[in-house]
Amino acid sequence: MKIKKASFVVSSSKLSQCPDSRLPEYAFIGRSNVGKSSLINMLTGVKELAKTSGKPGKTQLINHFLINDEWHLVDLPGYGYARTSKVNREAWKKMIEGYLLGREQLANVFVLIDSRIPPLEIDLEFVNFLGTQGVPLSIIFTKTDKQKQREIAATVNGYKRLLSETWEELPPMFLTSAVTGSGRDHVLDYIETINKSLSEK
Ligand code: GTP
Ligand code: MG
Repeated sequence: MKIKKASFVVSSSKLSQCPDSRLPEYAFIGRSNVGKSSLINMLTGVKELAKTSGKPGKTQLINHFLINDEWHLVDLPGYGYARTSKVNREAWKKMIEGYLLGREQLANVFVLIDSRIPPLEIDLEFVNFLGTQGVPLSIIFTKTDKQKQREIAATVNGYKRLLSETWEELPPMFLTSAVTGSGRDHVLDYIETINKSLSEK
């Protein structure tokens, strides 16, 4: 898929504020600082579309972007930010679960996982949560430019092994780098394939 148009639509603090539209939606989520906003900029080819930061916790709201007038891309605030308060964590959970479980046009959730870090309980828990709730998901391993192939494979295989304990079929997995742009075509083609299958329904 070629990205011809990408623009920011709205930031929402709850499901009821999200755009009133039937367009298919693709959400990006993962631990704080995993590279969600950077990946969105890389995928769309618009450098400053989503705000990025060296400090975790930059994205705080549900951010909708309109792509090619055909679909919405959604940047979600990250989970597992250690310095946030319990109140904030509860508020995050309410907002995110409300969105993920209530948004009917949600076509796929991309769960971003840092390719440099051995499997983390918090990421496994989140993937398993989506799986048991029946939310369609894929995994994107980020920051692959910082890693050797062998080390990336070790992380990916670690997740495959652990997820196989509870999953009969593993979710699709992608490797990306916001720095080199690798993985861009795979992710965009995947989105295009889902969009096509939805429009045929
Ligand atoms: P929050 O919104 O705070 O949850 O973070 P985020 O997941 O949106 O992460 P963000 O895109 O802001 O990136 C966090 C940091 O990681 C920034 O310093 C980015 O420059 C860096 N980063 C993101 N993606 C990559 C990548 O693919 N490669 C490298 N080397 N650095 C990356
Ligand atoms: Mg962000």
